[in-house]
Amino acid sequence: MKKYLVVGNPIAHSLSPELHNYWLRKNNIQGTYKKEEINSEDLKKLTTRIKDKEIFGANITVPFKREIISYLDELTSEAKTTQSVNTITLENNKIIGHNTDVKGFENAIKDTGYNLEEKKIFVLGAGGVVPSIIFALLKMKASVIMLSNRTRKKADYLKDYFTSVLAEDEIQKKIIINEWGDIPKFDVVINATSVGLKKDDKLNLDFSKVGKDKFFYDVIYNPAETNFLKNGKNLSNFTENGKKMFIYQAAESFKIWHNIKPEINDEVSKLLDQ
Ligand code: ATR
Repeated sequence: MKKYLVVGNPIAHSLSPELHNYWLRKNNIQGTYKKEEINSEDLKKLTTRIKDKEIFGANITVPFKREIISYLDELTSEAKTTQSVNTITLENNKIIGHNTDVKGFENAIKDTGYNLEEKKIFVLGAGGVVPSIIFALLKMKASVIMLSNRTRKKADYLKDYFTSVLAEDEIQKKIIINEWGDIPKFDVVINATSVGLKKDDKLNLDFSKVGKDKFFYDVIYNPAETNFLKNGKNLSNFTENGKKMFIYQAAESFKIWHNIKPEINDEVSKLLDQ
């Protein structure tokens, strides 16, 4: 029986086991996927457990996606560029760090049928998931990425970081920082803050003048409709929550570990309705 884990802190809320155990069953794979709450001190041990084949793979979630890197042997290019790892696996006795959040976001957006190419994207937040979103937006050829974070210096850091690692003049022009509270002209706005996780949470931003037919995307999927999405919808905009992104990042991890592309259907989607 092969063992897989998702580790983080806190971890009780994680719905990754629902998806992975469902796909393991569907594909007749003898395996289990469990969640485990860990602390920083346990990260090294986790990699030893994988090297010893006690565990065959792990998902890494908040707040360890960056911290795990120092214990890994190699990173994929997406993990390296975003400095964020959410999937680890053993290949030729080396622990490899992958980032499937980038693909997860890309696939989720593709599924909506919305083409981001040459679009102006307004990103709210500068936390753990944002480097993956920026990388995906750059890959999808957004014309400009406007970052805004309550704590401005975190947005400045992200811009500087991407400018340095990607080292292209283009990037410099593509990432712009907006003061928190200023709403620029945009085609797509992405809520990547944690505001909305609690049902009554509200962003103190005024979208009333943005016009209609924009795309409001929220990384949050539980609750299914945050006040941010409600607001967008009421203003006649297209909306999408982060459920598909979550499912697709899990599917990409599954593919890495089992070399099988798992099926994504309504039944899978319902597993996340809690
Ligand atoms: P972390 O910053 O530890 O990676 P996260 O959950 O990934 O945590 O990110 C939380 C994001 O939500 C941050 O961008 C945070 O802004 P700050 O950097 O200013 O903390 C943002 N956020 C949280 N509460 C917020 C609030 N009430 N208003 C606006 N932004 C908020």
